[in-house]
Amino acid sequence: MKLAVFSAKAHDRTYLEQVRDARFPDLCKIDFHAFSLSQETVPLARGCDAICVFVNDTLDEAVLRALHAYGVRAILLRCAGFNHVHLPTAEALGLFVANVPAYSPEAVAEFAVALIQTLNRKTHRAYNRVREGNFNIEGLLGNTLHGKTVGIVGVGRIGLAAARIFNGFGCRLLAYDPFAGEEFRQYGTLVELDELLRESHIVSLHCPLTEGTKHLINEETLGKIRPGSLLVNTSRGGLIDTTAVIQALKTKQLGGLALDVYEAEGELFYNDHSGEIIEDDVLMRLMTFHNVLICGHQGFFTREALEEISGVTLSNLSDFVSGISCKNSLVTEGHVLARRDTEPVRL
Ligand code: NAI
Repeated sequence: MKLAVFSAKAHDRTYLEQVRDARFPDLCKIDFHAFSLSQETVPLARGCDAICVFVNDTLDEAVLRALHAYGVRAILLRCAGFNHVHLPTAEALGLFVANVPAYSPEAVAEFAVALIQTLNRKTHRAYNRVREGNFNIEGLLGNTLHGKTVGIVGVGRIGLAAARIFNGFGCRLLAYDPFAGEEFRQYGTLVELDELLRESHIVSLHCPLTEGTKHLINEETLGKIRPGSLLVNTSRGGLIDTTAVIQALKTKQLGGLALDVYEAEGELFYNDHSGEIIEDDVLMRLMTFHNVLICGHQGFFTREALEEISGVTLSNLSDFVSGISCKNSLVTEGHVLARRDTEPVRL
C-alpha cells in the first residue's frame, strides 16, 4: 500500500516512520510531500491508495473527486478537527476518512493556559526588555488568576482539560456548551453564552468550527463581554470575526487577545514568510497591538502528542486495510466496507 503524506514537516516524517517501523512494519510505503493538498497538487496522489493530511490541506468536493479518480480510497487526518473535509462528498464516493480525535487534549489546554498567562503577566514583553538590559517593570502589571472567572466555550476533551487546570489555579469556572456532558459540573457551572461573556475575566474557546459556530465571536457578542477581559482561541480561527475583534481591541472593550489559530491561516501558517511582504492587512493590524499574542497553530505540538498522532493515524489505516471497523471513521463505515468488498484495496 502506498501512502502520500501532504504538508509534511520534518517531525511528521520522523514520527510516522518511527511508529510505522516499530508497530506497522508491513503496512505501507510512505511518500512525503512538503506542500499542502490542493487542486494544484492533487495529481501527486495518483497511484496512491491512501493520503494523510493536516489542518490546512484542502479537501473540498473537487479535490475529493480528483483523489477518488486517481485511485485514493482512504483519507487519514492527522488532526482532530475535520471542518476542512467535505464529508458528504467523501461518503458519496465511498472514501474512508478517519481522524485522530484525541491525541493529547492536555497539550492544547496547557498551551491555552500558557498563552493566557503570557498575555496576562506580559512575560513576552519582559523577555524582550531583559534581553536588552531593561529591567523596568512599568507596563508589565498583570492580574492574579486565583479567584477570577474563566469562561470555557466547549467542554469536550480539551475544554475539560482546561477546566481541570483553571480549577487548580483557584478560578471560578463557567462553561457554555449546548451538548455538554455531566463531567464539567464538578468544576463549575454551565450557563448560556451571554452570561459567560458578561461574567468572565478570561474566555477560552474550545468548541469545533461548524456552520453554527462560525464567527461565534462577532461584533454583537463582543459587545456583551466583560470590558477588559482576555480572549484566547486555540480551537479554530473561524470562530472569531477578526475585523470585529480588532475594533473591540481599539475601543478597549477587549483587554487582550491570544490566538493560536487565525481564520485566514491557511495562506501563512506552518511556513516561513519572514523574507516576504505579508499581504494580509488584517493579520498585520492585529500584530501591532501590544496586547495581542499570536502563535502559528502549535497547541498540539508536543512530543507525546506527535507520537500519539502517528500511532492513531497508522492504526486507522491498518483498520481500513484489514477491513476492521475503525472507531475513528468519520463516514458511514458500512458504505466504505461494502464498497471494498467489490473493490479490494491494492496492497
Ligand atoms: P471535542 O469534540 O471533544 O469537544 C468539543 C466540544 O464543543 C463538545 O463538548 C461539543 O459539545 C462542544 N460544542 C459543539 N458546538 C458548540 C457550540 N455551538 N458552542 C459551544 N460548544 C459547542 O473536541 P476537542 O478535542 O476538545 O477539540 C476542540 C477543538 O480544538 C477542535 O474542534 C479543534 O478545532 C481544536 N484543536 C486545536 C488544536 C491546536 O493545535 N490548536 C489541536 C487539536 C484540536
